[in-house]
Amino acid sequence: MSDKAFLDLNGEKFELPISKGTEDELAIDISNLRSATSGYITLDPGYKNTGSCESAITFLDGEKGILRYRGYAIEELAEKATFLEVAFLLIFGELPTKEQLEKFHKDIKSHCIVDDDVKKILDAFPKSAHPMGVLASLTSALTAFNPSSVNVESEQDMYNAIVRILAKFPVLVAWTLRKKNGLPLDYGDKSIGYVENTLKMMFKQPNEEYEHNDVMIDALDKLLILHADHEQNCSTSTVRIVGSSHAGLFASISAGISALWGPLHGGANQAVLEMLEAIKADGGDTKKYMAKAKDKSDPFRLMGFGHRVYKNFDPRAKIIKKSADEVLGQLGVDDPILDIAKGLEKEALEDSYFVDRKLYPNVDFYSGIIYRAMGIPTDMFTVMFALGRLPGWIAQWREMRLRKEPIGRPRQLYMGETYRKFTEIEYR
Ligand code: CMC
Repeated sequence: MSDKAFLDLNGEKFELPISKGTEDELAIDISNLRSATSGYITLDPGYKNTGSCESAITFLDGEKGILRYRGYAIEELAEKATFLEVAFLLIFGELPTKEQLEKFHKDIKSHCIVDDDVKKILDAFPKSAHPMGVLASLTSALTAFNPSSVNVESEQDMYNAIVRILAKFPVLVAWTLRKKNGLPLDYGDKSIGYVENTLKMMFKQPNEEYEHNDVMIDALDKLLILHADHEQNCSTSTVRIVGSSHAGLFASISAGISALWGPLHGGANQAVLEMLEAIKADGGDTKKYMAKAKDKSDPFRLMGFGHRVYKNFDPRAKIIKKSADEVLGQLGVDDPILDIAKGLEKEALEDSYFVDRKLYPNVDFYSGIIYRAMGIPTDMFTVMFALGRLPGWIAQWREMRLRKEPIGRPRQLYMGETYRKFTEIEYR
């Protein structure tokens, strides 16, 4: 195989190096294209064919349905690791030893107090505000209470920023829910695990003892692990590009939250549940909604189906589907929505429209059903996704800064008006 590609432009031949990844993926390196060809750029809306960086964090093969964090299979991590172990793995590259994990957790716990003044900001939001908007704003506000710039040359500085955001983020997540539910805010319990504490902060009632539920802890641990990273998706690319201007970690994460909010990305988990509810309210006629999804004159899409990269199956969806059955069974929840989801999936997998376009259920198709069984309101689903994605965003931001990547600044092909002489207002 050649290690060069050749571009023939108006009879002139240009040589472009080929880069090969550790999993044998191939890329044509066009980083010098514009200068070598005096002005040509490539055009790739939606970046469907564009690699924006080299990365050693997550590998996914959409054709084979493979997802690995730092080389470890998602199936094994979801089965055997805790969310905090996975966070350490993603951010620092190796699974932690027992001592490293204990220190990591201890350091996180030492930063878990959010400045009390942040409550004033939260107070200003109406109860009806969407939790993702609130979470993005509060995360951004954290920059005002914490050093906004990190000295990336200092390992200690970088580490401090990382444990700080990992500590404060679950507090903000819980406060977002408690504000919505009109419950008093608190700062959690340092004596328990990270995920356990997150659930306690979310659900503790002021007038009764909180009872831990192992099924909920395990289910959330697994969901967070499955969402923890997914290489250069929309929100992660946002975090990297915002961070590439040397904006601080919290500001970059806040931008990532906004990107995640959209229904084509993380917002899909909320959209899936709303869709399933609508189908149920409409008599459970899945065929009608299948027809709508296939009708090009109808904007309706089967939410939770399709993926930019997975063209076989989403390995996370397989794990979540199994988990949904188990969790609902263990929690004693009988949700007719789960049957509608399974029916819809079965029909889609046998329908040529979906088969031909390689549209399979994605991670969000079943996650909302589990969140609902746990008592988490629909508009909080994407917030839970953000909590899971946090270590991935941190890892990607850290990698981008350590690699001293240049500021992200794509080009464009201008298609607007050419020069026009200005017309005074009275002559327009
Ligand atoms: N329902 C019906 N048709 C679909 C769907 C769907 N969910 N997804 C894609 N298609 C069709 C689309 O209309 C197009 O058809 P045609 O070739 O006839 O024009 C073809 O499939 C290719 O679609 P695309 O929009 O070009 O594909 P994409 O890679 O740009 O988009 C996607 C990927 C995930 C945005 C899209 O599949 C979608 O909108 N899915 C529903 C939303 C969703 O579940 N998003 C969560 C993604 S996974 C979690 C995450 O990333 O956060």
